[in-house]
Amino acid sequence: MAFKDIREYIDFLRKNRKIIEINDEISTDLEIAYISRQATYRNFPPLLFTKVKGYPGWKVLTNVFYSIDAFYDLLGTSKLEEISKNFIEQFMGDMPISLSQKIKSLTEFTKFGKILPKSKKPVFEEESRANLLTFPALKTWPKDAGRYFTFSIVITKDPETNVNNLSVYRIQIVNDREAIIHWQVLKRGNIAAQKYKRLGVRKIPVAIVNGVDPVIAFIASSPVPPGLDKYLFAGIIRGEGVEVHELDNGILVPSNAESVIEGYVDLDDVRLEGPFGDHLGYYTPQDYFPTFKLEKVHLRENPIFHATSVGKPPLEDAWIGKAVERLFLPFLQMIVPELVDMNLPEYGLYTGIGIFSIKKMYPGQGKRAMMALWGTGQLSLLKFIIVVDEDVNVHDINQVMYAIASTVDPKRDVLIVDNVITDSLDHTVPNPPLGSKIGIDATRKFKEETGREWPEEVKDDEQVVIRMRPLLEKILRSHDLPVK
Ligand SMILES: Cc1cc2nc3c(=O)[nH]c(=O)nc-3n(C[C@H](O)[C@H](O)[C@H](O)COP(=O)(O)O)c2cc1C
Repeated sequence: MAFKDIREYIDFLRKNRKIIEINDEISTDLEIAYISRQATYRNFPPLLFTKVKGYPGWKVLTNVFYSIDAFYDLLGTSKLEEISKNFIEQFMGDMPISLSQKIKSLTEFTKFGKILPKSKKPVFEEESRANLLTFPALKTWPKDAGRYFTFSIVITKDPETNVNNLSVYRIQIVNDREAIIHWQVLKRGNIAAQKYKRLGVRKIPVAIVNGVDPVIAFIASSPVPPGLDKYLFAGIIRGEGVEVHELDNGILVPSNAESVIEGYVDLDDVRLEGPFGDHLGYYTPQDYFPTFKLEKVHLRENPIFHATSVGKPPLEDAWIGKAVERLFLPFLQMIVPELVDMNLPEYGLYTGIGIFSIKKMYPGQGKRAMMALWGTGQLSLLKFIIVVDEDVNVHDINQVMYAIASTVDPKRDVLIVDNVITDSLDHTVPNPPLGSKIGIDATRKFKEETGREWPEEVKDDEQVVIRMRPLLEKILRSHDLPVK
């Protein structure tokens, strides 16, 4: 079941007593962000602020992705990997062609119809008095440069392929008609901008959308395989195509959005953005990004504004990272077939540390997998990659520690790669967006890798295990310990 819009999701939350409605007056200046972070740290359900100081008629919704449980509700299952697996089995078969070729050929299948975007009359109307300052954008940390859209979706169209890009980038409000869009160099927004630039276009049509089915917002913040239309991918994950409407500037937007800002990004107007308290828990320093210029605003009656605040983990981006990890594992396994499981730990900042288990079959495969992972989409941002054998549970950090301690010779098994693309928000990076990365091959080694046989691991005698089982159980029971 897919939620038609954010209102239907709020109704679902109300029915299931999973929303906290706050009717006390509250300010967009630090107050909503503070309460929202405190709620996420405590895994409280979403918060709906109904009385926002200075913004009558608006409601602000935060903490939508309050824990992995939010995704179970939104996607109707706790087995997120199954959604992608079913899709791959149903639509992709096992044709030995590349992922992007498969995706292209998909549009030819008639059975694809249900998940394709569908044209629908919008529920929003043009609002001539509205401007960027009339939105309840949040100031999230005391030294932020100003008020920001923190969970709005920037929609662009790739000028070469016409593929629709929906992406969550923070947006710094400058004045009533101008804002700065913080898209990092490797993201779809900047890639589309660079393509427009090559075609001689300096003013790129853009829409900034807020308040949609949270699955669409999640997909916009996810590393969907390059070249794949995010409306199409949202349809795959929702099991139902997104209802869309074409704006005068040619951009397709969800018909059921709470607000739509139509305009363009001016590539000739690049300004200093930030500082902004970011997901590393530090203020990111200022840097130059292009400016968005507003042309029209469209609103629903009594609109709901979706926002978040990032900071020290684990906040909403950590749970988004966990859902991404589960949903995208089957896709990643198509590119790196030896991959068994992965863990992007909450405290590893999602783009900081990744742990991957592989089915190792030949010497050198640990480092090979590492390089394949760094070469795949946004995993290129990972600063630390740890590769372990398939019998190591990547979600058990102690097992991972044991694998590192018992299989790694640092000089032989640690790879440091310098001057490569990394997370430009990371203040430790010497020359953003270029920095270094470390890969730790914590797999057991073949003879070719060490020059000698890998030693045998200790293992109990099976007969002793069977013979001693009754005594062990007796001891455990007598101490009220679980028998396992
Ligand atoms: C709350 C939130 C804020 C984000 N802010 C930014 C941002 O300011 N700049 C950026 O490049 N990515 C940001 N991201 C990450 C992107 O949304 C993410 O990389 C997404 O996959 C966009 O990819 P795309 O550009 O390939 O569509 C943010 C994600 C979340 C959840």
